[in-house]
Amino acid sequence: MTRIFKHDILPLIKERWSPRAYSEEKISKDDLYAILEAASYAPSCFNEQPWRFILADDEKTLTKMRSILYSGNLQWAQKAPVLLLIAAKKTFSLNNEENFWHMFDTGTAWGFLSLEAQKRGIITHAMGGFSMSKARKLFKISDDYEIVTVVAIGRYGDISQLSDDLKQREHPDTRKDISELLLNKGE
Ligand SMILES: Cc1cc2nc3c(=O)[nH]c(=O)nc-3n(C[C@H](O)[C@H](O)[C@H](O)COP(=O)(O)O)c2cc1C
Repeated sequence: MTRIFKHDILPLIKERWSPRAYSEEKISKDDLYAILEAASYAPSCFNEQPWRFILADDEKTLTKMRSILYSGNLQWAQKAPVLLLIAAKKTFSLNNEENFWHMFDTGTAWGFLSLEAQKRGIITHAMGGFSMSKARKLFKISDDYEIVTVVAIGRYGDISQLSDDLKQREHPDTRKDISELLLNKGE
């Protein structure tokens, strides 16, 4: 169950994982905007920067954001001081044509965000387990945007607050071997 690194890769990549034991400690605006800035420096097709954010870091918006989470996620993510909804603009601003790469580019932005957070001792955990239709209605998100994920952002708390089931899962996940990722192996 331990991660094994065969190569000398960026320490932040090695260290990042998706915990669930959040502390309720607030995150400073400076940290928050720094990680959003990191996200904004992701590369994107035609520099479209299709990523969009709905930031919940005040009690009113957090209550709204928590209400869209499925219960399995809510049980741990309700402690996170920040919940960030990430959406992706589907079309190019230049010509309103479909942007095939909107999700790809937005995924890169989330990756950058998570690494900048890691550098600052801030943990992140992306979630797909939430109601997209409820999110669209509550936050009035138009059909021009794909709703991608909600990310819990905060600092590491106390593992004893987690249910027994979640305690078992509270560790960095391992990865497939690179040989399993190469579709053209053996050619
Ligand atoms: C798009 C996306 C959706 C995810 N959805 C959930 C989720 O709903 N609930 C959850 O507990 N973890 C969720 N995860 C976390 C993954 O399970 C986790 O990233 C994966 O197991 C790899 O573990 P690591 O991030 O600790 O390396 C999601 C991750 C991503 C990127």
